[in-house]
Amino acid sequence: MTIDLQPVKGTRDFYPEDMRVRQWLFARWREVARAFGFEEYDACVLEHEELYIRKAGDEITGQLYGFADKSQRRVALRPEMTPSLARMVLAKGASLPLPARWFAIPQCFRYENMQRGRKREHFQWNMDIIGLSSVAAEAELMAAQCAFLRACGLRLDGDKPDIVLKVSNRQVIQHFLEGLGIGADAFPAVCVVIDKRDKIGADGTTAELTKLGLSAEAAARIIAVLDISGLDAVADAVGKDNPGVIALTELMALCASSGIADVVRIDLSVIRGLSYYTGTVWEVFDASGSLPRAIAGGGRYDRLMELFGGTPVPMVGFGFGDVVITEILAERGLLPKEASERSVDDVVYPMSAKEFAVANRIALRLRAEGRSVVVDYSERRFKHVVKRAEDDGARRLFILGGNEVTAGVVTVRTMGAERSEEKLPLAQFGA
Ligand code: HAM
Repeated sequence: MTIDLQPVKGTRDFYPEDMRVRQWLFARWREVARAFGFEEYDACVLEHEELYIRKAGDEITGQLYGFADKSQRRVALRPEMTPSLARMVLAKGASLPLPARWFAIPQCFRYENMQRGRKREHFQWNMDIIGLSSVAAEAELMAAQCAFLRACGLRLDGDKPDIVLKVSNRQVIQHFLEGLGIGADAFPAVCVVIDKRDKIGADGTTAELTKLGLSAEAAARIIAVLDISGLDAVADAVGKDNPGVIALTELMALCASSGIADVVRIDLSVIRGLSYYTGTVWEVFDASGSLPRAIAGGGRYDRLMELFGGTPVPMVGFGFGDVVITEILAERGLLPKEASERSVDDVVYPMSAKEFAVANRIALRLRAEGRSVVVDYSERRFKHVVKRAEDDGARRLFILGGNEVTAGVVTVRTMGAERSEEKLPLAQFGA
């Protein structure tokens, strides 16, 4: 049998050098989440399929890796974390102290058409706030995204920031539609259709909206509203008393107080493809436009718990994928050395098998001090050992030949530019 050496289409292998970058990224995400007082949670990648079956026609439902297990239970590899979060919160019931601030870094699977920045598997940093209906929650989540982006070395201040957060509120459109006689029931499906308008074109969008019961005129008016950006222009178009406009105005003021006003833009073109959002929706983009795909996306979903049979609980959060941000940071040379290079503290080199035992005792002592230590058992020639220790980023090389052991010492070489060597007594290392 010959096996296919490539990973399954759309999925990635993480060799140690890729894993270093991934771990570096996850560490930054965890640091920011902790700085904002969020607690980490997790769930299994295998979920009940029904959590993702939505009648509004969400694209995600068609991209499911779903199947029947051996007992004919319908299960799916999760395409996103939000439904699992809602299920967990619902299961806790009243015993969960609210508001709760939770984060996770789940791997998610979607059977996507492959394109730049989109794979069939990705990791997604999620931060969600459960039990706060104020847009202060949205502002906090956006501030956390910005804190992470700043920590990566991206510029978020001034006239030409590297990043832009495009923010809308579905209530702007919902109330506008109510004015046109379109009820709340059709609204989630309308959002799913208008989110696809770039893919299906204006005619396709109108055709699908009319299928949902909208007149061609109403469809045209919605499509026109989506082109509006900037808070004042939005208020002029739909009225200052529109609840969506009121919420966006409040949100902008809070963003200013959190120091992120330079990157937040009100833009009604942002709808998002998930039908459960009810209020604020936002997406994070590279301002240069070189990558058309969103870096991250989030929104408020105050009715998902109700959809799952519980009492409504206000919830808001975002998902931030690993694929696009890693590409952006790599392109801009912002992945730090620590993310791309291996580094061990010490290499211990016993020149022959006779010195292995002494080498092990030295390694034991160094590891107890918290150092990362490789014992090079290869018995290769010295120059190969030195080369490998350099490649591994070692700071010190412990050289142990028969003569050294007989004399009760070990030669310790400090690697790098200021190379130096000294002989230290083995007793110092408990050997
Ligand atoms: P989403 O917009 O579907 O939202 O995904 C969020 C982010 O995950 C995207 O902006 C992107 O960075 C990444 N992402 C999604 N699909 C892929 C893919 N196929 N390949 C690579 N990266 C991808 C959600 O999933 C919501 N559940 C987020 C959320 C959390 N809303 C509230 N809380």
